[in-house]
Amino acid sequence: MTAHAERTDTSGAWSAPGRVNLIGEHTDYNDGFVLPIAIPLVVTCQGARHADELVRVDSRQRPGEPVRLPAAALAAERERVPGWARYPLGVLAEFRRRGHRIEGLELEFDGAVPAGAGLSSSAALCCATAVAVRDLCAPGVGDRELIDIARAAENDYVGAPTGILDHSASILCTAGHALFLDVRAFQSSETGGFDQIPFDLAGAGLRLLVIDTGQTHEHAAGGYGARRAECAAAATALGVASLRDIGSVDELSALSDPVLYRRAHHVVSENDRVREVAGLLREGKDPRAIGPLLSAGHASLRNDFEVSTEVLDAAVDTAQETGAHGSRMVGGGFGGSIIALVDTTDAGQVEEAVRQRLADMGFPRSRTFEAIAAPGAGPVA
Ligand code: GLA
Repeated sequence: MTAHAERTDTSGAWSAPGRVNLIGEHTDYNDGFVLPIAIPLVVTCQGARHADELVRVDSRQRPGEPVRLPAAALAAERERVPGWARYPLGVLAEFRRRGHRIEGLELEFDGAVPAGAGLSSSAALCCATAVAVRDLCAPGVGDRELIDIARAAENDYVGAPTGILDHSASILCTAGHALFLDVRAFQSSETGGFDQIPFDLAGAGLRLLVIDTGQTHEHAAGGYGARRAECAAAATALGVASLRDIGSVDELSALSDPVLYRRAHHVVSENDRVREVAGLLREGKDPRAIGPLLSAGHASLRNDFEVSTEVLDAAVDTAQETGAHGSRMVGGGFGGSIIALVDTTDAGQVEEAVRQRLADMGFPRSRTFEAIAAPGAGPVA
């Protein structure tokens, strides 16, 4: 592929970011609330349209696994496509399934979002593809449909049962803001359901550290799907369409199954925490005030939802013991990253203490990033 200095009607470059969710885990598929920021780690897609019917995808990170396929064979060839390429090809297949004319295309990816770290590298790959394909082949497709296309690609073509958190964050986030997303309202309206809340930590002498523990997680594997099924079972037992309909944990006493009770308790209390954190930020309060809510979110994911691990717990405890105002695991769980809200002056000591603790536990390759609220997906300027 030739380098594209600028975007034309038939070629260009696009990027889509990973995300960290400030609060609101496992609430998206329960029609609830989430509050992510996009992070300055992106997947870039160099794309070009061709006058033939061949789809070509390449990844700088997978030099030995290029894929060449007739566009019409995308759906039928799914099983033969290497794992990484199912994300972009799933997006192309979904555009076609919805009636868009997708034929000759060349897409080359370069990803800087670490995979398996709970930072949504897969959603970034899908969303980079989605914005590129929209601009090259399907102008007029709105952001809501793009999010749905990216989600459907992951659910149906890749086979990972995710919600819409990651794709919404990658497409809708804006620099300097956290995205407050009310999933039910967003999915049932054409314009509303979200707003951008100013999120300036540097001005308050704070940093948000993202520490990738090095313990990788696997979404498609059982735990995530099992939690979704338990939440659906809890909603059914309570006689509601989804756990979003439960206004207070007091309403959960009707659940006799202790496991379903704990799962529902997490979701209902987490929705409250999202609204509380969003409220504090909207009012322009000192962001340190959100710290205890982040830590409470972790306790709930550990005790009630049971998606944390000893490694994540140790990293979170160490961050809290060495000066973080709040800390929690991010993403689906079972490994991946934690976040820690720290005073700028304490960042070094927290980072070093967590790094040492992880190394002592057999995870010597942890990595720390700073999460600065970055822009969402779009053409590369
Ligand atoms: C993963 C999924 C999201 C969301 C989170 C947990 O990242 O892809 O849809 O459910 O887990 O909040």
